Amino acid sequence: MIRALFNKKGGVGKSSLTVNLAAISAQRGLKTLVLDLDTQCNASRYLGKENAEKDSSVFELFDQTITFHLRKKPAIEYCQPTDYENLHMIPGSAQLGDIESELSSRHKIYKLKEALEQLNEDYDRIYIDTPPALNFFSLSALIGVDTVLIPVDCDDFAIQGLKSLQQQIAEITEDHNEKLKIEGIIANQYMANAKLPSRIVDELISEGYPVIPHYISQSVKMRESHQEQKPLIHLAPGHKLTKSIIAVHDEIEAD
Ligand SMILES: Nc1ncnc2c1ncn2[C@@H]1O[C@H](COP(=O)(O)OP(=O)(O)OP(=O)(O)O)[C@@H](O)[C@H]1O
Ligand SMILES: [Mg+2]
Repeated sequence: MIRALFNKKGGVGKSSLTVNLAAISAQRGLKTLVLDLDTQCNASRYLGKENAEKDSSVFELFDQTITFHLRKKPAIEYCQPTDYENLHMIPGSAQLGDIESELSSRHKIYKLKEALEQLNEDYDRIYIDTPPALNFFSLSALIGVDTVLIPVDCDDFAIQGLKSLQQQIAEITEDHNEKLKIEGIIANQYMANAKLPSRIVDELISEGYPVIPHYISQSVKMRESHQEQKPLIHLAPGHKLTKSIIAVHDEIEAD
């Protein structure tokens, strides 16, 4: 099962939720992989893997499709263990952007799908963190995954962006990946006592978006977890924020 967390809007919680959902999955005993496709490498930093060498990051996985390598490494050789049992990662790379236009002009858009098909044999769950744009890398991910989870922050522009996103995903489904579906919209940074978040979520539901019925609260614990480079399930297993992410995890796994 391969999931991407994607939203063209920045700062909505893609990296935070990728790492935390994956860590919960691993803790439950599922062999889980995190793939970081964002040149910001926030998910990699979160898991203590921000300084990966080019040849052990996602950079070379793509680069070997456009430059000569004596031996093409299978995708599994890029997977590194983390500090947590059952949780592996392919670290991101700040240099990934340097090869984007060449990858694109040489039509390498299905290469990640091929790699994911191999990795799917070794992992029970794969979670992909994506950049905040529909570029070559996020498109490659959407072509190769089973489902997409869309985190939204509960502010006024959340809905605007979702309409065009939904249309773009529908087009990718039609043209490239017929199994692709939007598994859920994840309401993040939800403040139960504020009016705006509940109005936004109600509006999303009334417009028919598949909003996951557990909302993720806003808490400074998230930033602390990033700073400590420790997923919430390990840093603060009983915290309200952690429990809300567990609820989302269990909801998508129950399907
Ligand atoms: N539930 C939450 N409560 C408090 N802070 C949060 C929460 N979720 C995310 N944040 C904070 O919001 C910021 C953005 O989160 P994150 O990096 O996960 O978003 P993103 O969508 O991956 O951003 P980008 O588009 O830049 O990749 C981070 O500083 C993170 O700590
Ligand atoms: Mg991010």
